[in-house]
Amino acid sequence: MRRVLSFTPVCLLVPLLVLLWASAARASGDCLICHSAMHGAVKDAKGETVQVHLDAEAFTKSVHGSLECTNCHMSFTSGPHKPPEGGTTPEVAALLPYTRLKAKVDPVALAACSQCHPGIYKEVRESIHGEGIFKKKQSDPPLCLDCHGNPHYIVAKTDPKSPVNFANVLETCGRCHNNEEVAKKYGMSGHVIEKYKESFHGKKYILGDKKVPICNTCHGAHMIMAVAAPGSPVMGQAKLATCGRCHKGATEKFVAAPVHKYIGKENPIPFYGEKLLILLVFGVFGFTVSHVILESWAEIRDNIFRKSGKGGPHD
Ligand code: HEC
Ligand code: HEC
Ligand code: HEC
Ligand code: HEC
Ligand code: HEC
Ligand code: HEC
Ligand code: HEC
Repeated sequence: MRRVLSFTPVCLLVPLLVLLWASAARASGDCLICHSAMHGAVKDAKGETVQVHLDAEAFTKSVHGSLECTNCHMSFTSGPHKPPEGGTTPEVAALLPYTRLKAKVDPVALAACSQCHPGIYKEVRESIHGEGIFKKKQSDPPLCLDCHGNPHYIVAKTDPKSPVNFANVLETCGRCHNNEEVAKKYGMSGHVIEKYKESFHGKKYILGDKKVPICNTCHGAHMIMAVAAPGSPVMGQAKLATCGRCHKGATEKFVAAPVHKYIGKENPIPFYGEKLLILLVFGVFGFTVSHVILESWAEIRDNIFRKSGKGGPHD
């Protein structure tokens, strides 16, 4: 009996280990011999700081663990490297002026995502974020790594460690959308995360409700549009469908509810309501202060007149 019990896990374990070893050996290749052993940073030929260390185990466990390094690193600028045969494709080369804005060490590797994720790459290019990078040559809007993190350790979105997991998306989008400098520079109202957290959805999210919508539920993940652009999922008829996914039969009136509380003039009642409240507080304060000043002045004036004995009623 004992023998059978210990035999079962072993016959499962051995092929698993062989599989793991095989995939690790292929992905590591020659590259990890150096890159898992080396630590720290060096300056490359362009003067950029290169972090040379890779965690071999974490790379192997990532969604790209079975790829060759050179699937992404199709060329090299420095170091003891030979580029892979074939090198850079024309599509990748065409993206370089833009990926250079986002990847200082290896813009080729960032453009290489397009080789295996062409649909998503196209969506990002056409989004409001992509418009900034690919049309206006801005470096602030996000490309793949701003949302997916370190390219070597990307895990499935269902993994709690993924920056695009349900639990982490707020923080990921919030790095820019809760950053006042970025908001101001691009004419956005900012404080988006706080405003979401104050909303009916956000309050439930904080309590751990998994059914409430998060940033990408309403705005999308890759094909994110300007809020007011024609066809935007959060305006007009399309908004009815977006909210209607969970609120069956949502009406125009229902979808007018402020999903980012106090987001601005788009929601005049809370927006002007808040302004009115501030006005009221300062009004009452101002009134009280001037009342006290006037009262004191009246007292002082009375005292002066009484002392000098002039003009008093009992003269
Ligand atoms: C003999 C050790 C060694 C091997 C093998 C090696 N590298 Fe490197 N690599 C380095 C060193 C040292 C640097 C940093 C020095 C520099 O960039 O000049 C570096 C830098 C890099 C950089 C950043 C600079 C650049 O050129 O873009 C990348 C990316 C890179 N290596 C990827 C790889 C890949 C992929 C492989 C396998 C095909 C590989 N390395 C194999 C030692 C090695
Ligand atoms: C899924 C694509 C992909 C794979 C696979 C990949 N890399 Fe990278 N790697 C990138 C991207 C993108 C960058 C970022 C370039 C930047 O920010 O300039 C990068 C950066 C690097 C750097 C520089 C790190 C830094 O921050 O300075 C090194 C070194 C490197 N990779 C080595 C490797 C090695 C070794 C492997 C294989 C074990 C590998 N890469 C596999 C996409 C990849
Ligand atoms: C050589 C092809 C190839 C390249 C190049 C490549 N990927 Fe992937 N990627 C894949 C494959 C295959 C999967 C699917 C793995 C799976 O389904 O388990 C994947 C999965 C992913 C996922 C999905 C994680 C999830 O939620 O399931 C993300 C995110 C991702 N890749 C981002 C990138 C980024 C960013 C780059 C560029 C730095 C890139 N990929 C480059 C082949 C590639
Ligand atoms: C603005 C942030 C953002 C940017 C930029 C971004 N992604 Fe994503 N990505 C996400 C989010 C959020 C998800 C999870 C979507 C979900 O849960 O359905 C995701 C999911 C994915 C997936 C898993 C499959 C899927 O559609 O759910 C892949 C593959 C992927 N992204 C690749 C990429 C690549 C390649 C790029 C660069 C061209 C990129 N992403 C740029 C936020 C982003
Ligand atoms: C329930 C759907 C929904 C969710 C969830 C949601 N939004 Fe919005 N978002 C909207 C709508 C609708 C607007 C248009 C303005 C308004 O009605 O408040 C908007 C406006 C915006 C704007 C433009 C406003 C500005 O000027 O800054 C940004 C940026 C934004 N959302 C980002 C986010 C981020 C980041 C998250 C995640 C914390 C998020 N949204 C979650 C529906 C949503
Ligand atoms: C690296 C910074 C960064 C990250 C991360 C980021 N964004 Fe943005 N986002 C921007 C910038 C910058 C703009 C303004 C682009 C422009 O107007 O040219 C923008 C614009 C937008 C807009 C349009 C706002 C409007 O005024 O109509 C929405 C909606 C949006 N982002 C949603 C998201 C969501 C959802 C996420 C996370 C999944 C996200 N963003 C992640 C930087 C970022
Ligand atoms: C992914 C599903 C989902 C989407 C999409 C969604 N909501 Fe909700 N919403 C919820 C959940 C879950 C609650 C909490 C319901 C409860 O507690 O009974 C909620 C609550 C609300 C409430 C509070 C009153 C009530 O009915 O409980 C309002 C108002 C609301 N949502 C408006 C919207 C608007 C407007 C949109 C579109 C811009 C939207 N929702 C999109 C899931 C969603």
